[in-house]
Amino acid sequence: MNFLKAIQRVTHITGRRHEGSFAEMSDPIECLSDASQGPRIYMVYRASLARTILADSRFQQAQFLAPILSLCDEESTRQIRFFIDSNPAFLNADRHAAQVEAIQQPFARCEDAIRNLNISVLLEAIDPLLDGSDDLTAHQVGIALVGRLMRHCLETISGVDPPLDNKEVFAVDIFQPFAKRSHLVRCNTILDALINAIENHPDRQCPLSDADRLAVLTLLMMGATPLLAVATALLNAVIRSPDSADLQASLASLSNGYSMLPTNFVMRECVVPHHISGHSLHSGDTCYLFLGDVSGCPFSSSLKLPLGYGSHYCKGAGLAKVVTARIQELLLYRANEIAENVCTSAVQVGPASAFLKYSDASLSGVASDLVINAQPH
Ligand code: HEM
Repeated sequence: MNFLKAIQRVTHITGRRHEGSFAEMSDPIECLSDASQGPRIYMVYRASLARTILADSRFQQAQFLAPILSLCDEESTRQIRFFIDSNPAFLNADRHAAQVEAIQQPFARCEDAIRNLNISVLLEAIDPLLDGSDDLTAHQVGIALVGRLMRHCLETISGVDPPLDNKEVFAVDIFQPFAKRSHLVRCNTILDALINAIENHPDRQCPLSDADRLAVLTLLMMGATPLLAVATALLNAVIRSPDSADLQASLASLSNGYSMLPTNFVMRECVVPHHISGHSLHSGDTCYLFLGDVSGCPFSSSLKLPLGYGSHYCKGAGLAKVVTARIQELLLYRANEIAENVCTSAVQVGPASAFLKYSDASLSGVASDLVINAQPH
C-alpha cells in the first residue's frame, strides 16, 4: 500500500511539471504514511537534503528487490540474486569497499576499450539506418549506438562476442524499486542464457570470475538504459541544430555538465532514529531521494546529483563519460545525415527510471536552453 502511494506521488509530482521547471514544492520532505501503518515512506524533494542523507551513516542502502525476490524460487532468479548479493549499490560498509575494488578493474578495461574503439565500428552500426527508407527516431538510433557500445564492453570483459541483440541489451534493466516478479524472472532468463553462452563459447569454456560476472550484469542492469537516455537527448540536440557553428561546444557542455543525466531517485533506509526537518524518522523508514533528471535536479536549481553522492557515487561514471564522448564524436561525423533522416523522440529510459518520461522537447540543442516536459506513465 505504501509503495502504491509512493508511485502515485512520483507520477503526480512529475505530471505537474511545467515547461522547463517542476512546480514549487513547499516542504523539502514529505511523509506519505502515518505511524500506525508500520515503517513509513518519505519523499525527499530538496537536493541539499538528499545530499545530507546520502552522507549520513544513520541511513543504509535499501534492499528494495529483496521482498519481491523472496516470492521467487532461487533457480529462476539466480543471476539477479548474485547481482543484489554482490553489487556495491546494495551493500554497506566493509563488503561495499571490497566489491567496489573488485568491480573497478573490469570497468577500467571497458573504459580503455571504448576509448580505443575505431570510429568505423560505430559508423557501421548506424549508417545502414540512415538511408532514408524508414521512419527513424532518435530513440532507435540511440538503441543501435548504445547497444553496439555495450556489446563492445561485454566482449572486452568476457573475451567473447556476446550473443545478445539490442532488444535484450535494453530488456534487463531491473534497477527499480517496483519490479514485478514476472519481470525479474524474464530478465533472469536472458541473463542466464548470456552467461551460459559466454562460459560455453569455444573461445572460452570456463566460468567468468565473480568480478567479471558482476560487471557484465551491472552494465546491463544499471548502465545501458540511462546511457540510452543520454544518447537520445544528444541525438535530439543534433536534429534540432545540425548546422549550428557551436554544435560541438553545445554537445560538449551538455555531457561535461552532466546536466542531462536521467536518474530520478535513489532509496535509503533509516537505521538510527533521529529528526530531520521537523520529522521523526524511525528505524525501518524508507526515504526516496530525488537526485536529478534530464535537466538537473527537479526541485532545486542549486544542486545537481544525477550520479549520486558520497561513498555510493556512481562507479560507472568514468565509463559513462567515455561512452558519452564517443557518441558525441560520432554525431559530429554524421550531423547532417542524422538531421535529414531522423526524427526527434521522447527520452525514454526504461524500467529503471519508470516514472519519468520526457517529451521530444527534451533538448533544444543549447545547454542553457534545456526544456524538458515530464509525463506521468
Ligand atoms: C556504464 C554505465 C554505468 C555503470 C556500469 C554504472 C554502475 C554503477 C554502480 C556499480 C553503482 C553502485 C555504486 C556504489 O554503490 O558504490 C552506481 C551507482 C549510481 N549510478 Fe551508475 N552506472 C552507470 C551509468 C550511470 C548513469 C548514466 C547514471 C546517471 C543517470 C548513473 C547514476 C547512478 C547513481 C545516481 C548511483 C548512486 C546510487 C545510490 O546512491 O544508491 N549511473 N552505478
